[in-house]
Order: sequence, then structure tokens, then C-alpha cells
Amino acid sequence: MRAVTWHGRDDVRVDTVPDPSITDPTDVIVEVTSTGICGSDLHLIEVMAPFMTVGDVMGHEPMGIVREVGPGVTELKAGDRVVVPFNISCGTCWMCNQGLQSQCETTQNREQGFGASLFGYTKLYGQVPGGQAQYLRVPFGNTLPIKVPEGPADDRFVYLSDVLPTAWQAVQYADVKPGSSVLVLGLGPIGDMATRIAKHLGAGQVLASDTVPERLARARANGIDVLDSTDQADVVAWVRDKTDGRGPDAVIDAVGMEAHGSPGAKFAQKATALVPDAVMEKVMQVVGVDRMAALNTAIEAVRRGGTISLSGVYGGATDPMPLMRMFDKQIELRMGQANVWRWVPDILPLLTDADPLGVDGFATHHVPLEQATQAYETFRQKQDGAVKVLLQP
Ligand SMILES: NC(=O)c1ccc[n+]([C@@H]2O[C@H](COP(=O)([O-])OP(=O)(O)OC[C@H]3O[C@@H](n4cnc5c(N)ncnc54)[C@H](O)[C@@H]3O)[C@@H](O)[C@H]2O)c1
Ligand SMILES: [Zn+2]
Ligand SMILES: [Zn+2]
Repeated sequence: MRAVTWHGRDDVRVDTVPDPSITDPTDVIVEVTSTGICGSDLHLIEVMAPFMTVGDVMGHEPMGIVREVGPGVTELKAGDRVVVPFNISCGTCWMCNQGLQSQCETTQNREQGFGASLFGYTKLYGQVPGGQAQYLRVPFGNTLPIKVPEGPADDRFVYLSDVLPTAWQAVQYADVKPGSSVLVLGLGPIGDMATRIAKHLGAGQVLASDTVPERLARARANGIDVLDSTDQADVVAWVRDKTDGRGPDAVIDAVGMEAHGSPGAKFAQKATALVPDAVMEKVMQVVGVDRMAALNTAIEAVRRGGTISLSGVYGGATDPMPLMRMFDKQIELRMGQANVWRWVPDILPLLTDADPLGVDGFATHHVPLEQATQAYETFRQKQDGAVKVLLQP
């Protein structure tokens, strides 16, 4: 089959690789019809590169048609239409029963000290072949895939794999209540969707910042109050002005470690590209060379007693977090990979013809899988108005 494979920093190719097959009685094989490119995929060709291996099949936002089921699968049959969550979770362990599917105890990567396995996402998360491919082996066929109805285009459902539950969790973790004020940092797919969900759930004031013109325009068109800056001082002054001098009740960081705004750290990161991977792995995990600009802005911007919800992904363990400042401001900080299944019952009823979250028109680009190399570049460089790119194998 054809698949998007990792070859190195900024090097993604479409290769022919072996077709997946059923190896466990509850596996299913899905023929992928649509599969997103995510901001998290960009980390893999930048700062997370040391944890990848040449030839790894990328991608964690697929949907498609079940083609084959293992002998132990009773809940699905060939021909069913499914979305595949990016967490590989069993659905039956203690963590899954708590709604913490990203910590699934059946697929936790204990030797690496990391949570549940993810499709297409580094050695830290199980090195499981991903979903930017023609076919995908999906374990836990009775509990993991999300069955969706026939009829509407893939765009209606595909974001159930990641964007919708991640943005939903970001808003829940931000403790957004009717009338509350929230600032969303970053208007990529996750931040954009978080602004829509916050509004849908009744936030009184939804503010957002980014610097990409098309992304700002999209949010503005949805009635979001946007600032064209990622400079901390600008953002903090702007939100204080809009919230009686206090700052918003909550800040959602939908940026993560590709933040712009701290050139020193960026230099350190580029410099590590020259260091052998084994050394770099340690650097990323222990020393930390993250770009913390967005998180620092969140800490400064949020009101005292407010909540920070982190959905942007960070690596590195000992970044100089302004802990004293966080303690003094009595901030609540919540974060983590989205627990996809936990939010599916809340989201599914919204994926109707009325389309309150605007999923049908959310993708800016639909691209054949064969053009994935160019599509990654367009998304990474934020060219051509790219916000969400769906690959179609
Ligand atoms: N927690 C999860 O389960 C989960 C799931 C999906 C994605 N993510 C993470 O969420 C983040 C966003 O993903 P995406 O697909 O929207 O990515 P993206 O890269 O398309 O979007 C990030 C946006 O942030 C903007 N930005 C950069 N620095 C900024 C700053 N200092 N202030 C404000 N905006 C800034 C960029 O211009 C860009 O528009 C990534 O870190 C991704 O890894 C997490
Ligand atoms: Zn994703
Ligand atoms: Zn589990």
C-alpha cells in the first residue's frame, strides 16, 4: 500500500510499504478514506525527530471503511464506516473506565515511562504504524473505532479522531462556564475549534491571538474577538483591557512547543539538530529546550485564581517554568493528551446537518495522499490559507 513515511527532519515521503494484516483476534483493518495532518505531526519532523525511525508510517486522524475483522470482533463488520481515535485505548481497563483513555493501562508504554500508545507517534508512544496510509490495522475492534452513519461527507466525522475531542477537552479543562471569559492562544485547527466550542457552551467572551492572517480572519468571521500578535506584552495588555483589568477566567494554550516568540530557545533547538540523536533524546527529555512562549503568555494573561488549559504539546522535563509566579497567582493548570472516547457522547449529537461547530467547512485543503509531501510543507509554512489539511488515500 501507499503511506506517508518519516525520513528525517522536514522530510516526509509517500512510499510503498507492506499492507497491514490482522495479528490479534480483535484487530480490524480499515481502508482509510480521509486522514488529517495535525500540528502534532509537525513536532515529529522538528523537535520530536529523535524519537522517530526512518520508514515510520505517520498520521493519527483517520477514518474509513472496515474491510476485514479478526475472529474475536463482534461489534463491527466489513463495510462499516468508522473514525479511529488517535489514542490506542482498550476501553475496558481502570483508566479507560475513568475516562482517561490517554492513560490506558493496557497500552501504556511503561518501559518509556509514557502513557497510552498513539497511532503514528514516536517510540515514546509505542511506534505504532499510523493512519496516513491506504490501510490501517486497528486493535480493540470491539471498543476503539467510533462507528458513524452513512450519508454525510467524511468531513462531518473525521475530526472525532482528534480535533474535536482535543478542543472539547481543552474547553472543559478550562472550566468554561456560561458567561465566563476565555483567551485561546493559537488559531490552528485546535485553537480554532476550541473557540467554536467555548462559544457553543456559552462563554461570555471568547478572545484569541495568532499572527497568521487567514487564521485570524476565520475566527473573526465566527464572531471571535482576535488580536494579531503573539507578543506577550501586547496580548496581556489587550486582554486586561477587555476584562476590567483582571485577565480572562481561563486561557487555553493551543500552541505548544512550536511557539514563536522566544528566539533564544529556537536557536537552542536548531543547534540540537547538529547533535547525535541519542544525545538529543536526553536533551529533549531532561534539559528541555522547549519554546515556552505561549505557556508563559498564558501564565501572565490569566486572571488571579484563573485556570490554564494546555492542549499544545510540550516536551522536556526541567524547563524553567515560572513556578513561583504560578503559585503566587494560584493558577489551576490542566493538561494532557485528549481522552477521545470520554467526549464522543457529548460531541456526536452535534455532528448533524445543522452543524453548530462548522465541521463541514472546516478543512481548507483536500489533497490526494500522493501529494502529502507538498501538503505537509504547505501546512507547516501556513501557506495558501492552510488551516486543516485532509489527505485522501
Ligand atoms: N492534547 C492533545 O491531545 C493534542 C491533540 C492535537 C494537537 N495537539 C497540539 O495542539 C497544538 C496545536 O495544534 P494545531 O494542529 O492547531 O497546530 P498548528 O501548528 O496549526 O497551530 C498552532 C498555531 O499557533 C500559532 N502560534 C505560534 N506561537 C504562538 C504564540 N506565542 N501565541 C499565539 N499563537 C501562536 C501559530 O501561528 C499557529 O497558527 C500543537 O502543539 C499540537 O501538538 C494536542
Ligand atoms: Zn492530531
Ligand atoms: Zn484501557
